[in-house]
Amino acid sequence: MTKIAPSILASNFSELAREIQDVEAAGADYIHVDVMDGRFVPNITIGPLVVEAVRPVTSLPLDVHLMIEEPDRYIESFAKAGADILTVHQEACPHLHRTLQLIKSYDVKAGVVINPGTPAEMLEPVLGEVDLVLLMTVNPGFGGQQFIESVVPKIQKLAEWREEHQYTFEIEVDGGVKKDTAKICTEAGADVLVAGSAIFNQEDRKRAIEEIRNSK
Ligand code: DX5
Ligand code: ZN
Repeated sequence: MTKIAPSILASNFSELAREIQDVEAAGADYIHVDVMDGRFVPNITIGPLVVEAVRPVTSLPLDVHLMIEEPDRYIESFAKAGADILTVHQEACPHLHRTLQLIKSYDVKAGVVINPGTPAEMLEPVLGEVDLVLLMTVNPGFGGQQFIESVVPKIQKLAEWREEHQYTFEIEVDGGVKKDTAKICTEAGADVLVAGSAIFNQEDRKRAIEEIRNSK
């Protein structure tokens, strides 16, 4: 079954705990946490303190997407704050293999992510090391942007490589996912769909999640 990871970027931050519990009750599988530093991406969001604050309010895995420069400097803090999955951008990691080992040394699942303009081939050397591959279907920084369809062949490529080499990583997509684009992603081989506005901007989150999940 396709997993759904609501992105709290689109939630009401003044009621963050309640928003997270609401999507958990509505059937979410992961809570997607977007960390932005104002350098790797233009926007600034949250840090380890907020991850620590929300850790006790949900039993779902916290899927933490680090859109930051020099992520190695903050991995320990996010791991100790309670992240279950830490995903770093290939574009921000000159020593990607080392960074992934660092994440795993804290007993946290290691993910790697690429922007729409980065070829999937950049990930090939580390595919045996990762628990999750995230493919951006928008340029990161903001919620509510339009899905970039030219990323879809990368989903297929990752799914093929996984089968060929019997890798175990999950394939996640992030950006502009709603009912119609969700179908394109799952058909291409995605296992986890991140959705911000398509869930949090809906009154009935349960229905929103089901519609995205069952869009096949
Ligand atoms: C974009 C973030 C996404 C974003 C998705 O930089 O990484 O997780 O919140 O938002 P929607 O689903 O609204 O495109
Ligand atoms: Zn994200």
